[in-house]
Amino acid sequence: MVELGVNIDHVATLRQARRTNEPDPVWAAALAELGGADAITIHLREDRRHIQDRDLDVLRRTVAVKLNLEMACETEIVAVACRVRPDQATLVPERREEVTTEGGLEVAAHRERVGQVVRELQEAGIVVSLFLDPEERQIAAAAELGAEAVELHTGRYALARPGNEQNRELGTLKAAAARVREAGMTLHAGHGLTYRNVVPVARIGRMHELNIGHSIVSRAVLVGFERAVREMKALLSA
Ligand code: PXP
Repeated sequence: MVELGVNIDHVATLRQARRTNEPDPVWAAALAELGGADAITIHLREDRRHIQDRDLDVLRRTVAVKLNLEMACETEIVAVACRVRPDQATLVPERREEVTTEGGLEVAAHRERVGQVVRELQEAGIVVSLFLDPEERQIAAAAELGAEAVELHTGRYALARPGNEQNRELGTLKAAAARVREAGMTLHAGHGLTYRNVVPVARIGRMHELNIGHSIVSRAVLVGFERAVREMKALLSA
């Protein structure tokens, strides 16, 4: 069965909106595990806009399933990762002005730097996955650098109009997935996956892990809203 990595960054984004202590992503991780998550995924960004160093430290000690750290190839973040040692690191590009990770990592053009980070992380005992656009040259470069896994960027598929356009993007993902498998790397995918569009991606052969955040957190807010209001009303009427 395909493993589900639940990305809890948005829980931290909500907390940071008030710079308070709720909602705590550590609690969200525990609830995700109760719900059956196979991995907890967090992105420690250089600007610390959502996940904080404290979250990573506490999650390292409390998460019982796989802890997957999304991170850029920045010296400071690499040092944090090597100290904390998540089970898996997913290398992503990072730009301060972006709302979310926009494209895949440019491995082909930055082999030397990415290769150095892959080695440092692997020496620290961390499994390395590279977040890539579904392109042949990026996948070939990832294989050359010895990455254990590739996470295919599903953003274009997610944004495509249902029908021909979406089928074309799914075809691109399937072809890229075949390259990943042929190269002997583990296949992951993520970004923009929702309750409506996830199934065809989950059905791609030997898909091992899907990382999903926005859609799960969005649903959690809505399915939990009524109960939260009822609990406040109950307090007021007591
Ligand atoms: N995978 C990677 C590498 C990401 O950067 C993100 C977004 O943080 C996700 C998966 C999850 O994307 P979404 O929040 O759209 O489900």
